[in-house]
Amino acid sequence: MRKSEKHYVCSNCGYESDKWFAKCPICNELESAVEYNTADVTINTGNLKVPDIVFLDQELPPAKKIPTNFQEIDNVLNGGLVEGAVYLLSGDPGIGKSTLLAQIAKSIQIPQGFIFYVSGEESTEQVVQRFKRLEIRNKNIGLIFENNVDVILNAIEKSNITPSVIFIDSVQTLKIDSIDSSPGSILQVRESTRKMVEYAKKKNIPIVLVGHVNKEGAIAGPKVLEHMVDCVLQMELEGGSGLRLLKVAKNRYGPTDEVVLFEITQKGLKPIDNINSFFLSDYSNESGNTLTIVKVGQKLLPIEIQALVSNPVYGSPRRVTSGIPLDRLLMIIAVLSKKLKLPLESKDIFVSSAGGLRISDSSMDVAIALSLISSTFDTPLSFSTIAFGEIGLDGRIRGIPLLEKRLELSQKIGFNNIVIPKNLSPKKNSIVVAESVKDLIKLFKKGG
Ligand SMILES: Nc1ncnc2c1ncn2[C@@H]1O[C@H](COP(=O)(O)OP(=O)(O)O)[C@@H](O)[C@H]1O
Ligand SMILES: [Mg+2]
Repeated sequence: MRKSEKHYVCSNCGYESDKWFAKCPICNELESAVEYNTADVTINTGNLKVPDIVFLDQELPPAKKIPTNFQEIDNVLNGGLVEGAVYLLSGDPGIGKSTLLAQIAKSIQIPQGFIFYVSGEESTEQVVQRFKRLEIRNKNIGLIFENNVDVILNAIEKSNITPSVIFIDSVQTLKIDSIDSSPGSILQVRESTRKMVEYAKKKNIPIVLVGHVNKEGAIAGPKVLEHMVDCVLQMELEGGSGLRLLKVAKNRYGPTDEVVLFEITQKGLKPIDNINSFFLSDYSNESGNTLTIVKVGQKLLPIEIQALVSNPVYGSPRRVTSGIPLDRLLMIIAVLSKKLKLPLESKDIFVSSAGGLRISDSSMDVAIALSLISSTFDTPLSFSTIAFGEIGLDGRIRGIPLLEKRLELSQKIGFNNIVIPKNLSPKKNSIVVAESVKDLIKLFKKGG
């Protein structure tokens, strides 16, 4: 073991020497030598704790999960709420977070234990009314109306009930007395969360914290919350469809690829179970309509794209989209105008995704282009077709991720006429490879 020795370092340029120097030989700085000791590498073997060493061939007990029995939620959570884990359920005010928590509380059955639902935000009346409206009368739910973290935890401790889950609605209302700032401030939110995280770990109880999102899309106050919790569930409004999308933004216990779409009804959030056909239910092969499969969150979703190309009513042509980014549409219009000499520049153009579902997946480009061509000539595609591919500025159709999976899903939902980019050799005649937008014209009936 090396003994600590004296060294000198120039505070100006970092030159090191074993001897003191009045003037640094490198940078000529005067009196810049600072004495320092090299680290003492002697190991202190005193009264330190000895942590267990984990070997990779050793069986670790799996994280224990509490199933919520709310099928779609259990899917998103890969089986349920993990004991001792802290979840953040974030979303805009009014999106349905409190409703979702109430429904999860309802579906947790008595054998799985007791639920504390803490509300610091709404009055007893408001919460009880919601539970009544949702027809929740479970005896295994205890409501606590309080926002002081210590009072809440004390109430839980004194109840002599060991809950299987604690819901906190919301983290922005929590406060700790010893912190001199108001509830909702970054400090209060962060420290309250820290205390809740500690409690969850110590007692091995999952805690779900509701967090409101502010206008900028960050969880109000601190983004830092996301780092403190184990899982982040985000609830978003899906475009003009009015549907609520629940997705996993972070998950320490599993993948983040499940999403659930809900309708909001008088009786609460109702999962859309036939998600593969939900956005296709009104589809028919009329002019302007094309099908595609897009990635929403991590989920592949079949969806209809509709376009209407018409003569402008007023002077300058309008471009209106619903669910589809306008700049994407403008790019596709420019490419089709240039490469196919399509007379789009002077037309009014409307493009929407079914239900206004917000899509950012550029693999829908070819479907948009087909819808535009179809509407321009008022001619439907020869067959009901599902189309994939991203369009480049040069008019070529580029490969897309998850093509095999999209093909599989197309066939599963009963569509065999498929347009794909060239990055895969087709196994069936009904699969058409399109290398450029020029190839898209062939997909329409002759004389159209
Ligand atoms: N009496 C009611 N009947 C039907 N729907 C209601 C009723 N009250 C609230 N809702 C629906 O529930 C939503 C509010 O959900 P809530 O769970 O309170 O949102 P959050 O907790 O995210 O702020 C409203 O946007 C509304 O659509
Ligand atoms: Mg609420």
